[in-house]
Amino acid sequence: MSNFLRLSNITKRYPGVTALDGVDLEVGQGSVHALMGENGAGKSTLGKVMCGLIQPDEGRITFEGQEVRFHDPGDAVRAGIGMVHQELLFCENLSVAENLCLGDTPHKGPFVDQAEMNRRAQAALDRIGAQVDLNARLGSLPIAVQQMVQIAGAVAKGAKALIFDEPTSSLSFTESERLFELIDQLKSDGVTCLYVSHRMNEIFRLCDTITVLRDGELVATKPASEFDHDSLVSAMIGRELEQLDATSGNQAGQVALSVRDLRSPGKFEGVHFEVRQGEVVGLAGLVGAGRTEVLEAIFGLDSAATGDVSIHGQTLPLRRTDRAISRRIGMVPEDRKRHGLVLGMKIRENETLPILTRLARLGFVQAARERATAQTYFERLRIKAPSMESSAGGLSGGNQQKVVLAKWLAAECDVLMVDEPTRGVDVGAKAEIHEILLEIVAAGKAVLIVSSELPELLRMADRILVFRGGRIVGELPRSDADEEKLIRLMTGVA
Ligand SMILES: Nc1ncnc2c1ncn2[C@@H]1O[C@H](COP(=O)(O)OP(=O)(O)O)[C@@H](O)[C@H]1O
Ligand SMILES: [Mg+2]
Repeated sequence: MSNFLRLSNITKRYPGVTALDGVDLEVGQGSVHALMGENGAGKSTLGKVMCGLIQPDEGRITFEGQEVRFHDPGDAVRAGIGMVHQELLFCENLSVAENLCLGDTPHKGPFVDQAEMNRRAQAALDRIGAQVDLNARLGSLPIAVQQMVQIAGAVAKGAKALIFDEPTSSLSFTESERLFELIDQLKSDGVTCLYVSHRMNEIFRLCDTITVLRDGELVATKPASEFDHDSLVSAMIGRELEQLDATSGNQAGQVALSVRDLRSPGKFEGVHFEVRQGEVVGLAGLVGAGRTEVLEAIFGLDSAATGDVSIHGQTLPLRRTDRAISRRIGMVPEDRKRHGLVLGMKIRENETLPILTRLARLGFVQAARERATAQTYFERLRIKAPSMESSAGGLSGGNQQKVVLAKWLAAECDVLMVDEPTRGVDVGAKAEIHEILLEIVAAGKAVLIVSSELPELLRMADRILVFRGGRIVGELPRSDADEEKLIRLMTGVA
């Protein structure tokens, strides 16, 4: 078992950074083994070493008891190790069948044996239960389907181990579910899977063993059952998490935001709910269920919206973002690069954008006040940048998101709406963003959170409203909510 795949003292240096530092790892045959760690921890580098894409500076790999040296991915594939990776998708311009026979195209005399090629390609797809048009150009297919073709190709070539590097990063919910089922199936067929992902729920759903990397070093390898969410995050970020249970003890106060019969033709209708001070309300639903659209309408961004929105009992005019901001509603949009931040501006300038009028006296901004406010939140949110004069565009996703949050903290908003607040953000920053949101609620603000990650909703929200087809189809208090119930409501499948 432990003889299956063993890495000893693997070290890989790049100019100025040791991407892998003496990593010792044993992977058991037939396991689904997670590689976790923050951005830059070395996960992809380790995966690339295992599949021959890069060569380590030091260290040895033994596979099935033999020392191996992979000079390129072809060597690894011949030995039985393949990789599933978006950057490695095969030839976009070739058909599915051509891709699946790449490197070993059957010939009849000088001609490609089309029938034999199709037969082999079909067999490869059948083996993993994938239904794909053999003649389709690979590049014209959705990423999820391209991935299936890649997996089929690797399995057909006799892969004994497959490395998945963040395979769900551009898949939908249903596509991800299909991939998980396939990984379960591969596992029961004895194919070993190495699975790199940031997403905690995927790891606990799929993996039996978890390896945590931090700054190129292996921190721990343990059975998944010996980790829980907090201990895993702590291992990844190298410090204890601050107590995250802030909401459970919160006494919800007065109604802060009230939404009555909000509708927008073709997007949503009959939307009715309220959020109290000190309360986090989560919005669950599949992509397209109307969650983002509802937040946008409350924030004044939907010119067709009708209905009644009030803040602390006072009606808010719809379709007026300036009024929403002056009534202290904040919004952290799903696409922070397009709507949340001005990437070309400094961190400081971004932070104080919505409150410039408040900071201004006699028409000009008081530079010292702006600086002080921006610095306060720059420090409080532990934004990782040389200084707040750095450009927002150069920050990592997690730090950009912190700047957007800093902006609304500086604006002292009463109702904060956050849309997928931790999408594409690494675990450390994610834990910090959760901490920040819970601090905001503990200070008596109301928070509305949209997230496609159910564990995030279950963790953060006091109540969860479920959207389907533009309507609220259910409401669950956290104490009564679990993933299964939410998924049933979200999909409408009893
Ligand atoms: N080709 C490369 N050239 C220079 N540095 C690299 C290269 N690939 C990775 N690194 C660095 O090595 C470290 C580990 O990167 P990576 O393995 O991609 O991390 P992860 O996948 O965990 O996010 C990072 O500091 C990254 O910047
Ligand atoms: Mg990576």
